[in-house]
Amino acid sequence: MHFGSDKKQNCRAIVIGNRPLSGGYYALELEAPQIARLAKPGQFVLLATAELGNEGREPFLRRPFAISYIGESRGMIRIIYRLKGRGTYLLSQLQLEQSVQLTGPLGHGWDIDGDIHQALLVGGGRGQASLLPLARELAHRGVTVDMLMGAVSADGLLCSDEFADCGYLRLATEDGSKGESGRVSKLLPELPAYDIIYTAGPPEMMRAVCDWAERVFVRCQVSLESRMGCGIGACQCCAAESKGGEQKYVRVCSCGPVFDSSEVKF
Ligand SMILES: Cc1cc2nc3c(=O)[nH]c(=O)nc-3n(C[C@H](O)[C@H](O)[C@H](O)COP(=O)(O)OP(=O)(O)OC[C@H]3O[C@@H](n4cnc5c(N)ncnc54)[C@H](O)[C@@H]3O)c2cc1C
Ligand code: FES
Repeated sequence: MHFGSDKKQNCRAIVIGNRPLSGGYYALELEAPQIARLAKPGQFVLLATAELGNEGREPFLRRPFAISYIGESRGMIRIIYRLKGRGTYLLSQLQLEQSVQLTGPLGHGWDIDGDIHQALLVGGGRGQASLLPLARELAHRGVTVDMLMGAVSADGLLCSDEFADCGYLRLATEDGSKGESGRVSKLLPELPAYDIIYTAGPPEMMRAVCDWAERVFVRCQVSLESRMGCGIGACQCCAAESKGGEQKYVRVCSCGPVFDSSEVKF
């Protein structure tokens, strides 16, 4: 069973923080109590960036972002976004007290129900953003959490202090500027003792993690990204190929973004 909610809200949220991190990433904090109340780790929001531009017409499609922090008591959520194109550029220009339109929480998040005592989280690049609230929730429930986080270089490692607060964290960078040198998949242990593995990041990294999980017979969940239109299961533009079952394709926005690795090809 997935950990998620079918409820979603359309609302205007007030910007309470929007600061650059390293490596082209920004942390956007929004006062959005309706969404913070409902959000679960692994879910995402759609942000309407068009209204932030001069013309107010593009980008036409709202942009999806994982919820990286759920501050229910403070009624806030945080998004960690990396500058990519027009939409994320417009987000980076948002000032305190400005408002932005958003929809969420959307999709199905990480499955954290059941008999989980030890979990492994493997993240790469912006996939780290989706794993952070999961690490918090698991630690809060008393689960032993091991985490392997990787990036191309040190400036792409996100929120290491916050991850380290949740359990045992190991880092890897491809250029060797922090942690182990090389890809994060290099850190996968030989003798795992995990009840479940969660992974989010570049597809190549997730495939390596899923192959390894299959070899060591541990259940694995993945968080997929795909281009999105409606975000609510109506337009089909986010389809991913399923590995079997009744349907050839699944919609990443409404059936995911989190899936069991046995369910989807990516
Ligand atoms: C479920 C989900 C969660 C995500 N979480 C994060 C996050 O936490 N942090 C983060 O930095 N990015 C995240 N992304 C990717 C983010 O949505 C894209 O980087 C962003 O839409 C780029 O918008 P842009 O206008 O700046 O770039 P552009 O280059 O102008 O985008 C061009 C087009 O490509 C689409 N697009 C490009 N890359 C992606 C992508 N990977 N996924 C979906 N649509 C894409 C855009 O929607 C747009 O239609 C997530 C994507 C998905 C699907
Ligand atoms: S984005 Fe429209 S169905 Fe998924």
